[in-house]
Amino acid sequence: MKTIEDLDVAGKRVFVRADLNVPLSDGRITDDGRIRAVAPTIAKLVERGARVVVASHLGRPKGAPDPQFSLAPVAGRLGEILGKPVAFATDTVGDSATATVAALGDGEVALLENLRFNAGETSKDDAERGAFADQLATLADLYVGDGFGAVHRKHASVFDLPQRLPHAAGDLIATEVGVLKKLTDEVARPYVVVLGGAKVSDKLGVIDNLLKKADRILIGGGMAYTFLAAKGHEVGISLLQEDQKGRCLEYLAEAEKRGVEFVLPVDVLVSKDFPDLKTKAPADFGTVAADAIPADQEGLDIGPKTRELFAAKLVDAGTVFWNGPMGVFEHPDYANGTKAVAQALLDSPGFTVVGGGDSAAAVRILGFDENAFGHISTGGGASLEYLEGKTLPGLAALEG
Ligand code: 3PG
Repeated sequence: MKTIEDLDVAGKRVFVRADLNVPLSDGRITDDGRIRAVAPTIAKLVERGARVVVASHLGRPKGAPDPQFSLAPVAGRLGEILGKPVAFATDTVGDSATATVAALGDGEVALLENLRFNAGETSKDDAERGAFADQLATLADLYVGDGFGAVHRKHASVFDLPQRLPHAAGDLIATEVGVLKKLTDEVARPYVVVLGGAKVSDKLGVIDNLLKKADRILIGGGMAYTFLAAKGHEVGISLLQEDQKGRCLEYLAEAEKRGVEFVLPVDVLVSKDFPDLKTKAPADFGTVAADAIPADQEGLDIGPKTRELFAAKLVDAGTVFWNGPMGVFEHPDYANGTKAVAQALLDSPGFTVVGGGDSAAAVRILGFDENAFGHISTGGGASLEYLEGKTLPGLAALEG
């Protein structure tokens, strides 16, 4: 894979595909980690006299403009981080984009509006995606792929555009791939994987692969309840993917066969109501054993005994990969499980990788020093798919 050092960028229009898909609340950015992560690549291009055209998606708009997913707030924050103005185009390939890019001088930066406001970006139809990529290609001379969080998406700006322009990987992608490679090649043992987050089906592929590599797999968050249900326990009104129970049982059996420790919560915090994440009003909750969740209650975080159990399983780790919060960490009453895992990673002597938009944001929102972790990945789905051993379209296109 070429790097930006291999490109002659001075005076050229360089399209930087970033992942600026940051969490927003009432139009305000609640975690700017992804913007800060790509800023050094942009700054380097600026320094070398490139005319930098930054583009990204934000959220999942339905192929048409939708103000709640505008990248406008991101342009402001990117400008603050770079310490220079960032011109904002109010479309992706229309008059505003054309004029904004044409007005760029050497060492100046523009950000296009959300790429997913155009249906061609995410289309499954190669011709439709290709047509959008053709339009994007008119805005630039060179392409730099640095949106690691989106490299698992076969989207126009990620997959098709680099095939139309001389291209290279940005520094963020180079770093991310370097770290994840370490987790797929020689790992220091014990190798402990902590998985959380809501959907079991999103993570099943990675469990499949990690059962062959990890020594211990700890499961928390919403996905734990499908495993508990698969073992025959009542999970009340907790998140449950009924159709995945069979696979969960297969994984438990496979783990036993391979001697991989598979650790599920032993207690959970439960409530009848999902907490109000806006007001963060105190919640009415109790702690119950994981095999005794009342029928009318929902599990919202791992309990105190599980926090201790998980910490004990991480204390001697040589390598840790963590993806997915342990509970509804956005509410203070249900943040302790996620906090405990973050702290256990910090206390662990091993190389620790936090993978995922959500877990990475959680670490920062909960006040941990991100530099104290071995690596915080900007990619959630992307890092999981990398560990699954899949070919990622955005990386394949950069290699070509
Ligand atoms: C992410 O947040 O994981 C990336 O930005 C990709 O977003 P997506 O899942 O909407 O494609």
